Amino acid sequence: MSLPSRVRLIDVGPRDGLQNEKQPVPAEVKIALVHRLQAAGLAEIEVTSYVSPKWVPQMADNHAVMSGIRRPAGVRHSVLTPNLKGFEAALADAPDEIVVFGAASEAFSQKNINCSIAESIERFAPVVEAALAAGMAVRGAMSCTVGCPYEGDIAPERVAYLAGLMKGIGVQRVDVADTIGVGTPRRVQAAMEAALRHYGIDEVSGHFHDTYGQALANTLAALEMGVWNFQASVAGLGGCPYAKGATGNVASEDLVFMLHGMGIETGIDLDALVDAGAWISEQLGRPTASRVGRALLARRAA
Ligand code: HMG
Ligand code: MG
Repeated sequence: MSLPSRVRLIDVGPRDGLQNEKQPVPAEVKIALVHRLQAAGLAEIEVTSYVSPKWVPQMADNHAVMSGIRRPAGVRHSVLTPNLKGFEAALADAPDEIVVFGAASEAFSQKNINCSIAESIERFAPVVEAALAAGMAVRGAMSCTVGCPYEGDIAPERVAYLAGLMKGIGVQRVDVADTIGVGTPRRVQAAMEAALRHYGIDEVSGHFHDTYGQALANTLAALEMGVWNFQASVAGLGGCPYAKGATGNVASEDLVFMLHGMGIETGIDLDALVDAGAWISEQLGRPTASRVGRALLARRAA
């Protein structure tokens, strides 16, 4: 299979990246980060979550952030909505796409959203229906498609089962997420294949946390299958509060450097992206986790 000539990237930094920050990050900083990502050419940004502020305090400012960002034509802004309460709150802020989020692991579903996989689908169904009726796109995130912090290895059949349930309620595209970054290329390909039993190649994306340093190798393995949608987090920010020890997504800068080096188009200005990563890292008071960011900043300084 020849590699895709173009990749569509969703930067999940403002949401996945910042949701786990211990220190409060002001809404103005989140808004400025979204603007910097837009300036770098990102056409899709996952902005925030409409979840319980008791569960994820960092996302409590969802409305301030969504209503504070500029919404240029051609940029898709997505938000997480776990239930109708979250969807109704999001509706006022008119996201372009909502994301329901389930897990291939029962234990992770319980820890993350306090219900079983089957119950989660019952909660998502009216959310999906309402979003489609409101003209919004609908994505489904599938956590723990390779490994789970509570159950260990997850079989591809579990991923196919969840993907089938998502398809059954009308979810338009799905993210194959390696929440804790334990995946290696062949196992990630098996999880992707499982999702592809229910979704087309244009409807699946890779969402790889880089905890074990495997995310770029896993991305290449997915590219070899023809997958061309990926998620990444500027400066490698992030982690999930309900997956202890898991670090951020693969850094957007690292992914873009690899893709451009392979002649694959992204529409993203790598220098501007590195600037955005350096800026948010400075705001958070630590060095960027992006290897490419560090290398390019050092080269500029020299
Ligand atoms: P619950 O306690 O079962 O919900 O939580 P409930 O319906 O029983 O309600 C309990 C309280 O929460 C009530 O308030 C509700 O009003 C409130 P109280 O009466 O106690 O004051 N509530 C809400 N408030 C705001 N927005 C809402 C909402 N819903 C209920 N939408 C719930 C269920 C899903 C809400 C909870 O478990 C939750 O918020 N979980 C958050 C999980 C989360 O955000 N995790 C991180 C994102 S997922 C992720 O990072 C993985 C991903 O990146 C892919 C990957 O890498 O794997 C996507
Ligand atoms: Mg994630």
